[in-house]
Amino acid sequence: MEKEEIRISPDDRGFLFSDGLYEVIRYYPGLLFRPDAHIRRLQHGADHLRLACRDFSHLAPIARDLIRRNNLADRDALVYIQVTRGTAPRNHAFPDPAPEPTVYMCVSPFESAVKDRQRRTGIHAITVPDIRWARCDMKTTGLTANVLASQQAAEKNAQEAIFVRDGVLMEGTHSSFMAVFDNTVTTAPLSNYILGGITRETVLDLCRELNIPTSLEPVHESRIHLASELMITGTTTEITPIVTLNTTPVGTGTPGPVAQSLQAAFCAKIQQMQKQPPWFSPVEKGENA
Ligand code: PDD
Repeated sequence: MEKEEIRISPDDRGFLFSDGLYEVIRYYPGLLFRPDAHIRRLQHGADHLRLACRDFSHLAPIARDLIRRNNLADRDALVYIQVTRGTAPRNHAFPDPAPEPTVYMCVSPFESAVKDRQRRTGIHAITVPDIRWARCDMKTTGLTANVLASQQAAEKNAQEAIFVRDGVLMEGTHSSFMAVFDNTVTTAPLSNYILGGITRETVLDLCRELNIPTSLEPVHESRIHLASELMITGTTTEITPIVTLNTTPVGTGTPGPVAQSLQAAFCAKIQQMQKQPPWFSPVEKGENA
């Protein structure tokens, strides 16, 4: 449908309560990146939210169809998916009987120039107290804390804010966070306090391929000055070095070798995946999912 023709009720629980989930999937020319992993994460959230709709396996072919119909097949694009509990008169508890969930998907061109430049030059980041709730593993649309933190970063001419909970740097407002100590890539272990980033998982795999040691340990604020590199990873950022944290230079204050080699390996992986037949890549069969 044309966006202008879409009607979503003001009684939709996504609008009233942020009672829903979302996903952002990257499309590189000819390659929808790891859709199965995104669908799995959506399913994880839907199980915990007890949404009536739990099977999202049909969404990847629809995403590809939308990309084709919007003439984006040869371009970089983003697929946005949102699922809410559906529409019902406002009442906090689940409506009974359960309404039809609202499922929305759209595609848009991804203008990568700004992100490309940030990957080359690095970004400035700030730390903010993690005022979010205790179920950050679900990608819910309740992003108020992320919006406020991101705005705080923007007002300080920084491009990302890293949430700090109990003295530990957890993740960014829209990205995962990694530090390099003694050449070891260190990132918070998966828990209910961070999102299981799909790029994070890919980067940890790449570390293994490149023989870069990894450590799934909390990154403490008190040790951050010992890190030679800091970086964020995510669907829209890929691997982006942080060159200053709260205006203090990180390492040499320039993008570091570990982030650079991980980004190079990430690009090579994308190129290799793009060589698969366009609409029937190994991702479809569950490999690299
Ligand atoms: N955000 N942590 C948070 C809080 C995020 O919102 C995201 C992604 C990530 C990285 O996850 P992934 O590698 O799967 O993209 C980590 C998306 C891109 C967004 O909100 O736009």
